Amino acid sequence: MAKILLTGASGQVSSATIAELKGTGHQVIGLVRDPAKGERLGIDVRVGDLDRPRTLEGAFDEIDTAFLLTAPTDAAPYHMSNALWAAKRAGVKHVVRMSAIGAAPGAPNLNGRLHALSDQELRASALGFTILQPHFFWQNLLFSAPTIAQEGAMYWALGEAALPGIDVNDVAAVTARILADPGPHAGKTYTLTGGEALTMHQAATAIGDAIRKRVRYVPITLETMIEGLSKIGVGDYVEVAYRDYMALYAQGWQSQVTDTVKRILGRPPRSIADFARRHADDFVSGAPG
Ligand SMILES: NC(=O)c1ccc[n+]([C@@H]2O[C@H](COP(=O)([O-])OP(=O)(O)OC[C@H]3O[C@@H](n4cnc5c(N)ncnc54)[C@H](OP(=O)(O)O)[C@@H]3O)[C@@H](O)[C@H]2O)c1
Repeated sequence: MAKILLTGASGQVSSATIAELKGTGHQVIGLVRDPAKGERLGIDVRVGDLDRPRTLEGAFDEIDTAFLLTAPTDAAPYHMSNALWAAKRAGVKHVVRMSAIGAAPGAPNLNGRLHALSDQELRASALGFTILQPHFFWQNLLFSAPTIAQEGAMYWALGEAALPGIDVNDVAAVTARILADPGPHAGKTYTLTGGEALTMHQAATAIGDAIRKRVRYVPITLETMIEGLSKIGVGDYVEVAYRDYMALYAQGWQSQVTDTVKRILGRPPRSIADFARRHADDFVSGAPG
């Protein structure tokens, strides 16, 4: 059985991956900045800050396989480089890395270009690797929970575009499957999408069906979207990342469906209806995602 360490253990992708790995017999360890958050995970934790390389010395000792995820900030390539170096020095055999859809050196979005820096660094390292490039998480729609609860409306700057978003639980299930048996996935870069491209009107209908209330999608301009994000204080980097992704998706960028989730899991990706049902309480209460 392998010893697996995950960074971002308190975040949405890694915590769902930890849940998938429970009961597999592998020893699962979370890297956290805050030990109190680690305690709530119910697994062994090690404390380290990707922003402070000295705190990573020893963090990867005796680890076979690592899942490396960084938070969406302009420091992500620095954080990933620190993690990769610490993992390499500790003798980690395989790294599964969280990248993003369309990441490439010439990508038309900042987040994609920064992810590409880390993808390249990992590919050029002597580490075994698998890179995951998921599409828009359906869980991002939880941002709209307050307006869905109050007005029965969700506001996005996506025009009439259809995008093959993915449920975080499918990203986690794929990640767990690879961490448990990395061999067949060594050297691969996977684009992960849901099973079909959906417009925001279709997403709103699925949420409405789940909470038994009419929910409308109201297309807004990029400027209005950014004003709204600014008001809730997501920070400059996330504002730019959202602006880029919304503008690109609205033009049909990366709208193709892949069969990777089905090939790896042996079942189709979860539907938007399934996502909406599992988060119905959030959309009814208006708890922001
Ligand atoms: N949202 C999407 O649609 C989408 C799609 C494709 C790819 N992605 C990629 O997914 C990643 C984000 O994943 P997520 O949604 O799971 O993130 P998340 O929920 O925001 O969690 C981020 C995690 O990173 C940890 N963290 C932050 N700064 C750290 C530091 N200096 N040292 C150690 N840990 C630190 C946080 O820990 P604390 O609890 O200590 O803050 C938290 O556990 C990004 O790389 C993004 O580009 C997102």
